[in-house]
Amino acid sequence: MVGVDVDEEKVAALNRGKPPFFEPHLEEMLVLARPNLSFTTRYEEAIPQAQVVFIAVGTPSSPDGGPDLTQVKQAAEGIGRSLGEEFTVVVNKSTVPVGSGNYVEALVRRAFQEVHGGEPDGRLAVASNPEFLREGQAFHDSFYPDRVVVGAEDRRAIEVLRELYEPILEQSFTPPPFLPRPERMGAVPFLTTDLASAELIKYGANAFLALKISFINELARLADRVGADIREVARGIGLDHRIGPRFLQAGLGWGESCFPKDTAALLAMGREYGLSLPILEAAREVNFGQRDLIADKLLAELKTLKGKTIALLGLAFKPHTDDLRESPALALADLLLKRGAFVRAHDPVALPRVRREVALPLEYAETPEEALRRADAVVLSTDWPEYRTWPWERLRGLLRVPLVVDGRNFLDGKALAAMGYRYVGVGIPALGILSKAEV
Ligand code: UGA
Repeated sequence: MVGVDVDEEKVAALNRGKPPFFEPHLEEMLVLARPNLSFTTRYEEAIPQAQVVFIAVGTPSSPDGGPDLTQVKQAAEGIGRSLGEEFTVVVNKSTVPVGSGNYVEALVRRAFQEVHGGEPDGRLAVASNPEFLREGQAFHDSFYPDRVVVGAEDRRAIEVLRELYEPILEQSFTPPPFLPRPERMGAVPFLTTDLASAELIKYGANAFLALKISFINELARLADRVGADIREVARGIGLDHRIGPRFLQAGLGWGESCFPKDTAALLAMGREYGLSLPILEAAREVNFGQRDLIADKLLAELKTLKGKTIALLGLAFKPHTDDLRESPALALADLLLKRGAFVRAHDPVALPRVRREVALPLEYAETPEEALRRADAVVLSTDWPEYRTWPWERLRGLLRVPLVVDGRNFLDGKALAAMGYRYVGVGIPALGILSKAEV
């Protein structure tokens, strides 16, 4: 297997076994795969002998909300120029709008023609094979997926991909030492369909998950007013098999490029066809409003944010990654700064990346003590497990105001209140009280 990337530094680092981002087990996996895996910047070293070529480049949002397909175009043209003699399946793994399969096929053909003159007749088929893995759990989701979806018009493409995925479909591979097979893991469904449906399945899945989270966040706003506990409500709703318990965790909402980007892309797709998608519009509005909601909760507790120091725990868009794209934590930091607060940020993994990539005037803390010393409030913005085990009892004395606003309903509020903290979550009853002297 050969990985191609246009970034020379990235390729050199990968060839030394160094991944360009943080993902649990990725370094170990690069070592395990090493005998069969190399990286290059040159298409001609990878494409001619390949039977299957995955396009897995970025498709960031363009200003109109639709995805920017520049990298897909470059990859397809690079593949077309180097296409070999044997039958090759070009697979769209990148999240691309419906119709991109046809676009990629046309680009590969045109690039082939430019170099070779004729058509790559019978030698080329294009398939869509959407990706459903979550960052931070990428290997788990790749080895033990809920389903594998392949869309193609050419039966041969589907057969080649079925064969490629067979060890996963049948669960016949030997699991890597760090990732034992889940006990109840059975055969994996292989869903074959047409190109357009496969492309829409990807967007549909992400949009539905995003809706689910926004729905629980909307209900959490009501829970706050009526004095209900959204965690209990989510449990009660989620036990219904038709609904399911996952992706019902209320809080700061979703980030990273996928949910924001894919919901925006669906809306752009709808606009192209003169169709409005009001449920998706509303899900985005609720999601982005969650950041204001947390800032307002802080304001209600502290009376003013001007000049206050807020310890912000977690900057990555979710735990087990250093991905900062559209991170709700950074959006919240920006809001707090605009309202006149000082923001002291902590993250167990993402700080080096934040220092390099984020322009906000944040203060940084490497330890719990540095984070909390003389702060006027703690806001938990990313549910990294280590925050649960911080020595909260001992840390309390460092704070100017022992106030915890839990943007992920993640910490043990009862225990914190027993230690003398005021604990405020999202859609859950607040616990503990601050004395007049403390605020
Ligand atoms: C998501 C999908 O879950 C994957 O299936 C998909 O392949 C991927 O996007 C993609 O298109 O690349 P990912 O963005 O890595 O995966 O992370 P999730 O675990 O889905 O979390 C997304 C966001 O929702 C995070 O900010 C998380 O904190 C938030 N979230 C998640 C909640 O606010 N509440 C929940 O109950 C669950």
